[in-house]
Amino acid sequence: MRLNKFLSNSGIASRRKCDDIIKEGRVFVNGKQVDELGVQVNPKKDKVTIDGKRVNLPSSFVYIKLNKPKGYACTASDEKGRKTIYELIDSDERLFSIGRLDYDTEGLIILTNDGEFANKVAHPRYHTEKEYRVTAEGEIKESELAVMRKGVVIDGERLPSARVEKLSFENGFTKLSVVIDEGQNRQVRRMFEAIGHQIKLLKRVRIGAVRLGGLSRGQYKDLTEEELNSLVKDR
Ligand code: URA
Repeated sequence: MRLNKFLSNSGIASRRKCDDIIKEGRVFVNGKQVDELGVQVNPKKDKVTIDGKRVNLPSSFVYIKLNKPKGYACTASDEKGRKTIYELIDSDERLFSIGRLDYDTEGLIILTNDGEFANKVAHPRYHTEKEYRVTAEGEIKESELAVMRKGVVIDGERLPSARVEKLSFENGFTKLSVVIDEGQNRQVRRMFEAIGHQIKLLKRVRIGAVRLGGLSRGQYKDLTEEELNSLVKDR
């Protein structure tokens, strides 16, 4: 197996990130530093380390959906010392999230130790839909919805188009459903900043066919076989 595939299947990071880790000279195979990408390893025989720590393929795969509360970072260790989603999960496996939600965003996030699976679901080529519920300040007009649907322009750059539906306007706040199939950094927040409406609540409710369902904040559970298959089918 290629070294980058071995590392990503071990839950270290995406394959591209693993390439960077290899190039940085942090990976040793049987005590020898390796900084070439094409090296083959035998997972049963070879001893692979990163920064001196042994790396193993997981003995079994775990796939979890979590309702991330607001106020948690999606990093393994946060440089600002903030709480992380990993503190919410009781698992001996080295899990990582497929994509991230901002610190202030809540809702559905999928975690796994299966690097290959994560690469597939996250890859932009597959356009996995992500659906959000947004509560924004003020009344959002049809003309503003049209701008978001076409793709807002920020500093001369057009963000990808989005499916946007207005659900209600009550007590000075508009509730909307927003569906995007790319995951650019702060994409939904930037869309609303561009039309001049402050977001009060941003919550992800669906990834592909996987729904947040009745999970309460901070709660998690295993993906069902059906949910798992829906994310990787035809890939
Ligand atoms: N878009 C955002 O702006 N933030 C998120 O956390 C997810 C999507």
